[in-house]
Amino acid sequence: MKKRYLWVPVLTAGLVAAPVAFSAPPATPGPGLLGTAHDFTAAGGGHLPYKAGTALNGDGLPINDVGLCTYCHTPHHGTTTRLLWNHKLSANTFSWDVPSTTAGTTLPSFSGQTYNGVSAKCLSCHDGSVAIGDVFWYEETGPLTLEPTKMGQSPSDPIFRIASTTGSLATNHPVAVPYPFGNAPNTYNTATTGSNAYLDEWQPDPTALGIRLFNDDGSGNITAGPVAGKTGIECSSCHDPHNKQAVDDMFLRGSLAGNDTNYICLKCHVK
Ligand code: HEC
Ligand code: HEC
Ligand code: HEC
Ligand code: HEC
Repeated sequence: MKKRYLWVPVLTAGLVAAPVAFSAPPATPGPGLLGTAHDFTAAGGGHLPYKAGTALNGDGLPINDVGLCTYCHTPHHGTTTRLLWNHKLSANTFSWDVPSTTAGTTLPSFSGQTYNGVSAKCLSCHDGSVAIGDVFWYEETGPLTLEPTKMGQSPSDPIFRIASTTGSLATNHPVAVPYPFGNAPNTYNTATTGSNAYLDEWQPDPTALGIRLFNDDGSGNITAGPVAGKTGIECSSCHDPHNKQAVDDMFLRGSLAGNDTNYICLKCHVK
């Protein structure tokens, strides 16, 4: 497993440079949330800027810890029914700097608050516009800011901010777009696979390789699983935020290195 280090010269008796970890070392891929970058409990993950600690509960007492699911889900009083979402959603509309992919597929803009696909949920933290601990409900109280730091405000984390704070996804792989499921054009989130796509250069069904696909019923209701003609991809097609289906660092559903179909890019593209 790879560890990421920032090389910082450290003065010791022998003037030797020692590596200093700049974020917690990646957790083991696969066993679950515990100890990963998405474990925001007081004991979890080692991601100090993002742990609960300052908010007060309904009795005016400090909340010193949260549960493993709190920053993302709640049993009651969430912000959306879909996923029982507990994190404040971004007010941004997400879009790219170009209107389409090379094949001519429209890159549709989508609302951080009303788009039903999971990418809007990821970007509620990963655009740096909302505090990581800005949640709707915990310990019979809400809304609460359990932790006031936004993505990008601590020295180590700008690389984790995927969209800009104003919602630009420029330079990022398409999400919330159709996948050419079954080697055919599909329509998803109002966009249809462009007429210049090489339809045979795709895995017909990448779910067989551990990729998660989604379908849009045409009214913007998006659920997991492919449906012929209506299939698309989201952030969680490549990442599993719970680290259960992940097979490599960064919650990836495929390996970061390599040249076979375990390699993340070849799980969808046939190149
Ligand atoms: C960092 C945010 C985050 C945390 C923490 C988190 N989840 Fe999730 N959860 C998500 C996202 C995002 C999805 C959508 C997953 C997808 O699209 O594949 C999801 C989906 C789910 C689903 C729907 C079924 C599925 O797997 O897609 C369940 C059930 C669920 N989470 C339960 C939990 C429980 C229980 C916990 C705590 C032990 C937890 N989650 C912690 C973000 C989180
Ligand atoms: C509640 C806020 C929140 C939500 C929601 C959330 N993340 Fe994260 N994510 C974080 C934070 C905070 C980090 C750690 C940043 C750091 O280490 O400085 C992180 C780290 C990551 C990492 C890097 C993991 C590593 O081990 O280096 C990936 C990949 C990631 N998130 C993907 C996602 C995806 C995909 C979704 C949606 C399916 C999502 N996140 C939803 C807050 C969130
Ligand atoms: C097509 C697959 C794919 C999609 C879709 C995808 N990612 Fe990633 N993501 C990756 C890969 C591969 C890496 C590792 C990049 C590297 O470091 O070489 C990564 C890395 C990351 C990281 C670690 C920090 C960084 O910038 O490298 C975060 C955080 C992250 N992704 C979040 C997201 C979010 C949020 C979305 C949706 C808006 C998303 N990803 C969509 C494949 C994807
Ligand atoms: C979950 C499936 C999936 C995975 C995994 C995946 N892609 Fe893609 N990729 C797509 C889809 C869908 C499109 C949009 C195709 C279209 O309609 O033009 C796309 C488009 C692209 C494009 C074209 C962008 C443009 O403007 O024309 C490139 C380049 C690309 N992907 C590279 C990668 C790389 C590199 C990886 C591995 C890090 C990767 N993809 C992983 C599904 C995937």
